[in-house]
This record gives sequence, C-alpha cells and structure tokens, in this order.
Amino acid sequence: MTIVGSLSAKVPDVILLGAPGAGKGTQAQLLQREYGFAAISTGDLLRDHRARGTTLGQEAESFMQRGELVPDDVIIRMVESELPDKPVLFDGFPRTVAQAQALDALFEARRRPLSIAAYLKLDRARLEERLLGRWTNPRSGRVYHATFDPPKRPGIDDVDGGPLIQREDDRPETIARRLDVFEGQTLPLVAYYEAGNRLILIDAAQSVDAVSKALVAGLGLHQRAR
Ligand code: AP5
Repeated sequence: MTIVGSLSAKVPDVILLGAPGAGKGTQAQLLQREYGFAAISTGDLLRDHRARGTTLGQEAESFMQRGELVPDDVIIRMVESELPDKPVLFDGFPRTVAQAQALDALFEARRRPLSIAAYLKLDRARLEERLLGRWTNPRSGRVYHATFDPPKRPGIDDVDGGPLIQREDDRPETIARRLDVFEGQTLPLVAYYEAGNRLILIDAAQSVDAVSKALVAGLGLHQRAR
C-alpha cells in the first residue's frame, strides 16, 4: 500500500474509487459494519429506483444497460438528497470530475471537511475475472464470487437462503464497455484527488482481508473504531 499525501485524523468521509469489479462494494460492506459509516452506493440507489419504477430509475435504465454513466445532474441530485450528517462511505461516486467538484462544493457549503479517496487499483484481466464470476444477493447487496468466495450452495445466499443473481451488466460486452468508461471518465479522478493531497492508493489484487487491512491502516480507522 502506498499513501499519497498526508491524511488528517479528522477526515470523516471516504470515497472508494475503483473500476467495476475492483472490490468497492465488498469493502464498503465490511467498513460499514465495523466502523458505523453511512454508506452511499450510487449503483445500489439507482438499482433500487429502477426496481421501484421511479422517474429517476426510468431515466437511468438505458444508460446502465449499456454500461454508460448516468448523467451527472441526475446523480448529483440523488446524492444530495441522500447525504446524512454522519460520516459517509461513498461507493461508486464520484465517477467524473464534475461529480467530484459538485461533492466538494456540497461539503464546503456545509462546512464539512473534504472527503479523501481510496483508489482500489486492479488490472483489467483481474477486473473481468471478478465481474464474470460475481453472484449478488439482490435483497441485501451481498456479493459472492464463483471461485474466490463461493456460497455454500451454488446460487443460494448463505445468510437469507434466497436466490443469488448475476447482474445484467455483468455480461462480457457490457463489462468491456464499463471498463472503457472507467478508463475514460473516472480514472482522471486519481489525478484530481492526488493534486488535492487526499488520495490513498491500495493494491486491490490482494485478498479481501488484506485489502481491508490496508484500507483500515491507510485511513487511520483503527484509532477511530467505535
Ligand atoms: P455500480 O453498481 O457502482 O457498479 P461498478 O462501479 O461497476 O462496480 P461493481 O459493483 O461492478 O464492482 P465493485 O467494485 O463494487 O466490486 P465487488 O465488491 O462487487 O454501477 C453500476 C452502473 O450504475 C454504472 O455502470 C452506471 O451506469 C451507474 N452508476 C453508478 N454510479 C454512478 C455514478 N456515480 N455516475 C454515473 N453513473 C453511475 O467485487 C466484484 C467481485 O469480486 C465479487 O464477486 C467479489 O466477491 C469479488 N472480490 C472482491 N474483492 C475481492 C478480492 N480482494 N479478491 C478476490 N475476489 C474479490
């Protein structure tokens, strides 16, 4: 793990930055459970809007099916309406420089310290492998992997006993598009946060446990555990 820049022990909000399949959702669930963050996953929020058939969900649907980003104004409005007063762990947001600037402006307006970003870095071949093998519990968001973290019974969640699904955007052609979109539109955020001296770089090729430990150490969370 490399720490880029210096971190303040008071920094309360964390952005998990990384390509599709880097392990953002996996780590968000662990950190949320252990440290009491409020988690905002824009992907989960959008899937929930789609399942409920809201106007926002309908607006987002075609973009998500194609593996494209949902327009910035839709995302920023959605996050603003969800932002709680307690420390937040952002999973999958921001994804463009415009979103990052909007988040900074929102925090500044609320006199809240700017968030720091942890970049979970992983090469493309491993990202594809992780997405192709992923199984998801659509009720809880818990994820498994056919090889790296299989459920006890194939296709069945260990905790609630209900069916697991493969996400519709985890098809090979959509995965390729999502990874291209990441490289074109989201990767510039690494430089954005590095320039602001608020980036932590994490090697996401390690085991789930090792990534988690690197995050906890990099973010100084062991000192702030509840
Ligand atoms: P979203 O739901 O955010 O998906 P994503 O960013 O593509 O990320 P994923 O959920 O696919 O991957 P992850 O990094 O969480 O990996 P995971 O932990 O599951 O977004 C979906 C769509 O919504 C976007 O395409 C876009 O259309 C729209 N959208 C969302 N936010 C937006 C925004 N801000 N702006 C515009 N549009 C937006 O892990 C993957 C697999 O690997 C799992 O099977 C897991 O078990 C396994 N795994 C995890 N860690 C490890 C490890 N260390 N070792 C081995 N296996 C591991």
